[in-house]
Amino acid sequence: MLIDILRIQDICAIFILIILYIMVGYRPPWLWKHIEKSQKTITDIPGPLSLPFLGTRWIYWFGNYSFTKVHEVYADLFLKYGPIVKEETLFNIPVISIVNRCDIEKVLKSSGKYPVRPPTEAIAYYRKSRPDRYASAGIVNEQGVVWHNLRSSLTSELTSPRTIGSFLPVIDQIVEEWCTSIRQQRISGKYINDLKPLAEQLGLEVTCALVLGRRMGFLQSDGPSPTARALAVAVHEHFLACRDTFYGLPFWKLWATPSYTHLVQGEEAIYTLALELIETANEETEESAIFQSVIRAAIDNREKTAAIVDFIAAGIYTLGNSIVFLLHLMGSNRECQEKLLEDLNNGSTTYLKACINEAFRLIPTAYCLARVSEQDLELSGYYIKAGTVLLCHAGLACQNNDNFEDAHLFKPDRWIAECKATTFSTATYLVIPFGIGKRICPGRRFVEQVLVSLLSNVVREFHFTSMDELKFQFEFLLAPKGPVAMNFLDKIM
Ligand code: HEM
Repeated sequence: MLIDILRIQDICAIFILIILYIMVGYRPPWLWKHIEKSQKTITDIPGPLSLPFLGTRWIYWFGNYSFTKVHEVYADLFLKYGPIVKEETLFNIPVISIVNRCDIEKVLKSSGKYPVRPPTEAIAYYRKSRPDRYASAGIVNEQGVVWHNLRSSLTSELTSPRTIGSFLPVIDQIVEEWCTSIRQQRISGKYINDLKPLAEQLGLEVTCALVLGRRMGFLQSDGPSPTARALAVAVHEHFLACRDTFYGLPFWKLWATPSYTHLVQGEEAIYTLALELIETANEETEESAIFQSVIRAAIDNREKTAAIVDFIAAGIYTLGNSIVFLLHLMGSNRECQEKLLEDLNNGSTTYLKACINEAFRLIPTAYCLARVSEQDLELSGYYIKAGTVLLCHAGLACQNNDNFEDAHLFKPDRWIAECKATTFSTATYLVIPFGIGKRICPGRRFVEQVLVSLLSNVVREFHFTSMDELKFQFEFLLAPKGPVAMNFLDKIM
């Protein structure tokens, strides 16, 4: 009877489906739960219901979760399922999230010569489709030997203390101009209704000064130039489109969806501007050690423009967000401002660095680090095969009182004096705003120098106060949501 209803094509289709289910590792719990296993494996890790082929991404499409709030989604998933959670992407490929400190440490310590950070698939896909422009997926998205060659050819100057130290005068000058810009834009001599665009302009100006060796004029009193404005918009769009192609339905693999189109527009806009800036390099640019190290690198010419694009995209938005978080936290803690000023006046930068570390502990813009395991691992009692995508939720682990006392509070003192040793030992694999190991952010030294210059100048020039509680949204990075209002009152010198 059944055979009469089903045609031969239907039987073939069912057979192919079953084979596919088995190949992608989908195991219906009702069928497999009775099978006794000596060791718990990926299949046993708890997580949201996984649908055949669609995996668990449906929680963002039909469930209560939104991918503008991914940071809250994971906090909720850990609460529901425990310290290790399994999601499945399309075709039921598992993605394992961990929040336990020992697990995070185990994963990050186990990286080999070429640590694998999963690429942003849509960017890698787009760059592959443009061999005229790109010889590879670029330093941020490449893996293995290709990544290693790019990393060693492109970042030695960027990570050199001497080269980065030589940028100190220009950083100080830009920060000084930024303080002037704050004064000019205040309402009633104190009120800034949104710090975000100002922080973004500072991020743009310093990153371009570093990467391109030229001042772009983002802080000019008559507003940035059209090129500069286009760059700012392109970088922002680029991050939003990365998020949307990553968490949305992956139809972009079949046709150019609006989010994929945005991503391509962002990439192309940054590329065109980078090319224009390379072509119009002047004497000032030619003196820039970073720009020159990229231009002179012994790599395919296409890689050089791609590296400029990657440095700009990786640096601007991350820095803008981090500036907002740092100033907002300091603006909510008047006693920290006073203590900082006193310490600076005594010629010390100990408390200054403690404030920056504490801001990165409490609100890291890159709040989670992704890796593909290179060897078999045991995490929270589960056996994980090599080649599994692992998300290390270091940002959430930093909010746990088991790891840091009064974890939700901004307490720079935990980084100094008698607390210092305990904090640093816990922080090694948890306070990792720039990542860790061989793939650590090459911009770290520069960013720290910018934040040191910024905070010490701002605290000397202003009494600054945050007006509202900070809200967040996920834009592939943790970003401030809505306007960030602050008061900046001049200090009477
Ligand atoms: C506050 C600012 C910044 C933050 C929070 C930040 C954070 C990060 C993080 C978390 C990673 C991944 C590291 C890992 O997987 O272990 C990364 C990678 C990277 N960052 Fe940054 N970054 C910042 C600024 C910059 C700047 C200014 C530049 C360049 C001028 C830059 C260039 C890069 C590059 C090229 C990579 C890829 C490195 C690789 O895979 O080898 N970043 N960054």
